[in-house]
Amino acid sequence: MAKSKTRDCNVAMIGTKFMGRAHANAYLKVAKFFDLPVNPVMHTVCGRNAEQTPAFAERWGWKHASLNWKDVVKDPEVDFVDICTPNNFHEPIAVAALENGKHVACEKPLAASLDVARKMRDAAKAAKKKGAKTFVWFSYRGCPALGVARDLVSKMGPVYHVRANYLQGWAGPDTPLVWRFIGKVAGSGAHGDLGAHSIDAARFITGQEVTEICGSIENTFIKKRLIPEADAGNIKGGHVAKGAKKMGKVTVDDAVAFLGRLSGGGMAIFEATRFAIGNQNANCIEVNCEKGSIRWNFEDANILWYYNAEDDPKRAGWQRIMCTDAGHHPFAHAWWPDAHIIGYEHGFINLSSSMFNVIGRKKPEVPVPDFEDAYQTQRVLEGAVLSARNRTWINMKDVK
Ligand SMILES: NC(=O)c1ccc[n+]([C@@H]2O[C@H](COP(=O)([O-])OP(=O)(O)OC[C@H]3O[C@@H](n4cnc5c(N)ncnc54)[C@H](O)[C@@H]3O)[C@@H](O)[C@H]2O)c1
Repeated sequence: MAKSKTRDCNVAMIGTKFMGRAHANAYLKVAKFFDLPVNPVMHTVCGRNAEQTPAFAERWGWKHASLNWKDVVKDPEVDFVDICTPNNFHEPIAVAALENGKHVACEKPLAASLDVARKMRDAAKAAKKKGAKTFVWFSYRGCPALGVARDLVSKMGPVYHVRANYLQGWAGPDTPLVWRFIGKVAGSGAHGDLGAHSIDAARFITGQEVTEICGSIENTFIKKRLIPEADAGNIKGGHVAKGAKKMGKVTVDDAVAFLGRLSGGGMAIFEATRFAIGNQNANCIEVNCEKGSIRWNFEDANILWYYNAEDDPKRAGWQRIMCTDAGHHPFAHAWWPDAHIIGYEHGFINLSSSMFNVIGRKKPEVPVPDFEDAYQTQRVLEGAVLSARNRTWINMKDVK
């Protein structure tokens, strides 16, 4: 077989659990479904566990396994470092990788605090001058329906409302104290975990920024939780020893809701919670504009609801768009015939295709957020926290 002329892009990934699996799957599939200007190679996976990490490498097809991220980010063979670790552990890896001239993809939220996010943004700015690209895994941008929403909203005149609520319900009193409840690791709770996706989706779809936070409320419903022996590698997991009684303090929010103004003059309402019992992963957004509206819920990810205010009133109503049309919907060309629907993992595969397009200087199908973008999202997270804690309105110009 003739050897491909496409240049290799050696990927190293740090973290092997929930996102580690989602990203490994993306690297495994992306070049099979998309024509890319570079060829992603699963070079090294890095974890903490001496038995599980080589097993993970073998299972997913990584060439090498490492237990030391400091070696990985310096490895001259590595081109692209992907960070799938808890939030407080994004920055040291990202900054070291950027200083070594690597492209860096980092999970969201960018950091556990705005100060740290700023450091990462600055490191990315400096590295960009030398050609390094940064990406942040706001993975829902990889859902075709959100790209369609973005296109429709750009043609519907002024944006009046963004109504974004990200509702999960897994964090009841029996859920143990996994890292997502620990402030110094996660930075925040539902706010940074879920709200960050909503803020990014609002920025992505409308192209606007939040300019003012006009009130915010945060709450921690369950103040103490059982301490697990170890994280179980899923969101609410954590092995709690039988009969264990040792409790630890929850140091993040369980829910945050806030109001904001948008740069185009519209209003935005955001709500993120892990206590919307009965909801599992209801990442919802509605945008109302002069000439119509869009509405989306990830639990029905392939469907975008669209209302065209210019329709003949006799037949006006919400249209249900199946976003799987290869000729018209982003990423759909890579997958299956119409309405042969795609799922959660495809968002990651799709977004990674756009990352490799950026690296290979080909136009991405949707814009991929970089560290500057994710820093803007982190500013909004911070503004909402300041508003809630100070019980005041926040002008986003004051949040730097
Ligand atoms: N894009 C999304 O939709 C999405 C979904 C879930 C999680 N996330 C984000 O992904 C990141 C990881 O979350 P997760 O759910 O995969 O967490 P997880 O607990 O399932 O996995 C974390 C991984 O990081 C590793 N790790 C932790 N500390 C380490 C260290 N010091 N050295 C080496 N490895 C270390 C753990 O061993 C584990 O493999 C977080 O930032 C989270 O917010 C994003």
